[in-house]
Amino acid sequence: MITQASERVALLGASRGLGAAFFAELVQSSPKGEALLFSRNELLLQRLSETEELATNSEFKVSFKTADFSQTPDQEGVFERLRQFRPNRIFYFAGGGPFGPFEQKSWKDHQWALEVTFLFPARLLHLWMRGEILPPEGPPRQFVIAGSHVAEAQPDPLAASYAAAKHALRGLIQSIQEEAPNLDLRLFSPTYLDTKMLPKNAAPRLNGTPIIPVGQAAKSLHQWAYYETGPRHQIFNPR
Ligand SMILES: NC(=O)c1ccc[n+]([C@@H]2O[C@H](COP(=O)([O-])OP(=O)(O)OC[C@H]3O[C@@H](n4cnc5c(N)ncnc54)[C@H](OP(=O)(O)O)[C@@H]3O)[C@@H](O)[C@H]2O)c1
Repeated sequence: MITQASERVALLGASRGLGAAFFAELVQSSPKGEALLFSRNELLLQRLSETEELATNSEFKVSFKTADFSQTPDQEGVFERLRQFRPNRIFYFAGGGPFGPFEQKSWKDHQWALEVTFLFPARLLHLWMRGEILPPEGPPRQFVIAGSHVAEAQPDPLAASYAAAKHALRGLIQSIQEEAPNLDLRLFSPTYLDTKMLPKNAAPRLNGTPIIPVGQAAKSLHQWAYYETGPRHQIFNPR
C-alpha cells in the first residue's frame, strides 16, 4: 500500500485535458506530497503550479519540466529528471495523432502519433520495470497509462495511426500484466472526454455522442488508482 506521506507523483502530459484535471484532483485530495509535471507548454505548467490552493498548502510541492515527448533529447531529459525525482506513482496522459485519411497525412505526423502515444511510454515502462527509474528494492510503486476505449480495441476511422498506437499500448500493457502479475501497472481507457483533443467540429460533438466532463474522468481515475485493487484495466464509459 502506498502511504500518503510517501506520495511522489509524476504526471506526463499534465498541462491540460485529463492530465491537468487529474492534477487538480490530486491537489484537492492530497494534503501532502510532491508532484512533478511534464509537457511542452511552459506557461500552462507554470499556471498549474501557482494556484492559490497550492500557495496556501506548504505540504504539497509542485515542480515542472518542459519536454517534447516526440524528441529523443527531451525524452532523455525526462528519464533523467524522473531518476532524480523517484516517483512512487507515474501517470502517462499524452497521446494523439493526425485526423484525416491515412494517405493524406504526412508520414512525419503518423510517426509523431506512434512516438508520443506508444513508443515513448513503452520505453519509459521498460526502464521503470528494469529498475532504471527507481531502484528495484524500495517502496510500492504504480504506473498508470491512459488508453482509449474509443480507439484501442476497434477501428477509429480517420485516426488510423492514433488507433494503431493505442492498440499497441493495450497489447503491451495487457501482455506485461500477465507476465508480471504483481506489478501495479494499469491502463485507464476513457470514452470521449470534453478536452481540446476533440475539436469543435469533431464528429462525436456533432452527432450527439455522449462526451463526458473531464473532471468526472479524473475523479474516477484517482479513486481507482489510489483506492482500488481489483482489475488493472479500467474502461471509463459512464452513461
Ligand atoms: N479526449 C478524449 O476524448 C479521449 C478519449 C479517449 C482517450 N483519451 C486519451 O486520454 C489521454 C488524455 O487526453 P486529453 O483529451 O486530455 O488530451 P489533450 O487535451 O490533447 O492533452 C494532452 C496532454 O498531453 C501533452 N502532450 C501532448 N503531446 C505532447 C508531447 N509531444 N510532449 C509532451 N507533452 C505532450 C499536452 O501538453 P502540451 O501541449 O503542453 O505538450 C497535454 O497536457 C490521451 O492519452 C488520449 O489519447 C482521450
